[in-house]
Amino acid sequence: MTDTASSNQSAPPLPPLPQLLTGQTALITGANSGIGEAVALAMGQAGANVAINYVAGDDAAQAVADKIAALGVKAKIYKADVSDETQVQAMFAAAIADFSTVDILVANAGLQRDAAFTSMTLAQWNTVLSVNLTGQFLCAREAVKEFLRRGVVASVSRSAGKIICMSSVHQQIPWGGHVNYATSKGGIKLMMESLAQELAPQRIRVNAIGPGAIRTPINTSAWDTQDAYDKLMTLVPYGRIGEPEDIGHVAAWLASDHADYVVGATLFVDGGMTLYPGFATNG
Ligand code: BGC
Repeated sequence: MTDTASSNQSAPPLPPLPQLLTGQTALITGANSGIGEAVALAMGQAGANVAINYVAGDDAAQAVADKIAALGVKAKIYKADVSDETQVQAMFAAAIADFSTVDILVANAGLQRDAAFTSMTLAQWNTVLSVNLTGQFLCAREAVKEFLRRGVVASVSRSAGKIICMSSVHQQIPWGGHVNYATSKGGIKLMMESLAQELAPQRIRVNAIGPGAIRTPINTSAWDTQDAYDKLMTLVPYGRIGEPEDIGHVAAWLASDHADYVVGATLFVDGGMTLYPGFATNG
């Protein structure tokens, strides 16, 4: 095991992103913390203007916008609950008015409400499905309407628009104690693939990223003590936790024309968590 793994140090920063997205606008949901924040920053570093969605935490959202604006692109915050149809429609109308169009949607907002199955409340079930799955549906629908209205602008991108659904290794790995969450991510897989199939003829690319364990507030208890971190590492062949920018950089590439022929794929960014590490020395 490497020093990074045993000591739980942050991995060193990735190399700077090239300007893959100049002249495009990306709307990122849940972008004032964790993976969403890192995706928003990466889009800005890659040259895109960034619309930052959040539901609570105005100051954190504005801080992300300020960091992105310092890179020399435009950034603006939009408060909206992604599970609320009216709020999602109003957010897209405002972002399109502000930036003239939206080229990229990263449907990232998501949460966990964990419980053993027999104590899981209907509220816990509904909250997770509403935000994680219905929220992606509502945002994708508004994005697609805008992509179809605008069509392909060849000087900007080969496609009319790109959607990246933030899924999880748990679209594939069952997760006891988190049945609502795993169900939402399994739903995202087939929503994404069906959308990709339906919209590819209109030159809209729909894909997903499946993060593994990433150092964010959603899973602090899985990495913030040495014991928890050591236990987590038994699930990660690559021997380190993921950093938010590991996801951000992949998202910037996946949204760019460098990935123009990637349609309907889930890219697991998980240090090998989906490789059944338990079988490395067993079975
Ligand atoms: C969950 C995290 C978890 C990771 C790997 C993610 O989708 O949100 O809580 O650590 O999957 O299990």
